[in-house]
Amino acid sequence: MSQSHGKVVIVGSGLIGRCWAVLFARAGHNVTMYDIDEKQLSDALVAIRQQVTEMHQCGSLGEGKTVDGVCQNVRSSSDLATCLQGALHVQECVPEIVDLKKKVFSELDKHVDEGVVMASSSSCIVPSSFTESLRHRSQCIVAHPVNPPQYIPLVEIVPAPWTAPEIVKRTRDLMQSIGQAPVTLNKEVNGFLLNRLQYALIMEGWRLVQDGVCTPEDVDTAVSQGLGLRYSFMGPFEVMHLNAEGIKDYCDRYGANITRVCETQCSAREMPGTSTCTAVHEAMCRQTPVEDLPARRQWRDTRLAALAAHKQELEDKEKKA
Ligand code: NAI
Repeated sequence: MSQSHGKVVIVGSGLIGRCWAVLFARAGHNVTMYDIDEKQLSDALVAIRQQVTEMHQCGSLGEGKTVDGVCQNVRSSSDLATCLQGALHVQECVPEIVDLKKKVFSELDKHVDEGVVMASSSSCIVPSSFTESLRHRSQCIVAHPVNPPQYIPLVEIVPAPWTAPEIVKRTRDLMQSIGQAPVTLNKEVNGFLLNRLQYALIMEGWRLVQDGVCTPEDVDTAVSQGLGLRYSFMGPFEVMHLNAEGIKDYCDRYGANITRVCETQCSAREMPGTSTCTAVHEAMCRQTPVEDLPARRQWRDTRLAALAAHKQELEDKEKKA
């Protein structure tokens, strides 16, 4: 069966399961969604059509793709054993509870064939904590997307110590073939890659506010009007490379100062229930009251869609040049 058009089973048809269904279906895979909740499944099919329509409207569905054509690739099922027959890849998307992941993976283990990839969308639970005792544990892996994955293509691939190298490679290749941007961790680490970077930034902002250096709004402005502009198309290492005559020169010029600054950034501060938490919450609510968050999320996703389209357009132009 061709990797690019094999059958994909999504287990859990909530927020992330729906997004995966769209990504796999857009790439031409036959997608079957399974859920224990029938209502979730029927709502998912409606939400998927809406998502595909929005992508079509903003030009991110892909050339020659139609809303009906993509939606026709998605089916739903409430029988796990049947829908796993002939599957190439299973993408688990149940809530982030380790005992539930254990239960679902042991259920999958009973029905999958040899060689099927069993991937979890887990945001922070390492795969060894729910796959150790499985017969097919060498086929298990984490493939963690970022929300909304149709506009943020990163997928973090995290193998357990017993995941077969072939499964790591197939998962990575599959993610690339559906238009996502995989990164592969060589070993399990708490927070994976993206959240370790993100938490370092959050914690430094927190310390600066707590220590009275600047306001919460200033932290956000430093990122949205500063760092973030570069980071939407290149990472920190490439920024270093360009900001001197290469990395070695950058380290010679700035390395000692970076180390000195970072030595003052070691203390992790408490977050819940602190006066800093109140101050940051109040600052954010002045911008967006809690009741307006759904509209602001919609605004964020529209901006992300426009950014993704802009990046795609530039990348296509660069390829042609
Ligand atoms: P969700 O709560 O929206 O959906 C979970 C779905 O799983 C529901 O439809 C529920 O009925 C179903 N479910 C529950 N038990 C089940 C079972 N035994 N068998 C089959 N289906 C079952 O959750 P969401 O947000 O989609 O998260 C799913 C996974 O994706 C989590 O591990 C989460 O950490 C991860 N993730 C979530 C992101 C987000 O922004 N929401 C981003 C990246 C990863």
